[in-house]
Amino acid sequence: MRIRIAPSLLAADFARLADALAIAESGGADLVHVDVMDGRFVPNLTIGPPVVKALRAATRLPLDVHLMIEEPERTLREYLDAGADWISVHVEATNHLHRCLSLIRDGGAKAGAAINPATPTAALSAAWQDLDYAVVMSVNPGWGGQKFIEPSLEKVRRLRDEALSAGARLAIEVDGGVDERRAAPLARAGAEILVAGTAIYGAENPAGAIGRLREAAEARSGVTA
Ligand code: DX5
Ligand code: ZN
Repeated sequence: MRIRIAPSLLAADFARLADALAIAESGGADLVHVDVMDGRFVPNLTIGPPVVKALRAATRLPLDVHLMIEEPERTLREYLDAGADWISVHVEATNHLHRCLSLIRDGGAKAGAAINPATPTAALSAAWQDLDYAVVMSVNPGWGGQKFIEPSLEKVRRLRDEALSAGARLAIEVDGGVDERRAAPLARAGAEILVAGTAIYGAENPAGAIGRLREAAEARSGVTA
């Protein structure tokens, strides 16, 4: 299982997003993590479909769009049309998770569901077959640069075991406060996609930080490319 690294643009300079994409590409990132916030589901407000469309035109990397928005079913279509390749919605933000996941897949993107730190993994148990990936939030959503919430590691392990016993084949993404120190334990616990904002764009050498994160995850977790 190869670990995928997804730099989170939230930690980049929003006045120079094309530079942030170039860093992701030169650093060998697998995905670009795009945090959409509506100021309602989370207090912060970031970007919407027009910026996703511009990002789509500016990079060949798949866009992993993380919708931290209320009632995502209302605007999902706009993110699909903007060119999102992976879309995750928060289970806490919709009464229609199955409809959201079906819309995403019908739109040709990978369907993901994100769970906040206090949301149990059981919230996904009726959606195993509709999910391509699950996002374990290891911080409370809304900001970058927060401290990793330690019980998230055990939550990743639990989610992997529950998915395996349900015969589900889904990738586990971890998002929030991820750094080199936590990369290997998270990979060992079953995480396949590591999102990192501050650990990459806050680093001395951001492009180099991407490779170091992957090496840290793959070296001590026994996974190979
Ligand atoms: C938080 C976002 C995360 C965050 C990650 O709401 O979903 O993607 O930007 O950034 P770091 O790695 O700095 O926590
Ligand atoms: Zn995110």
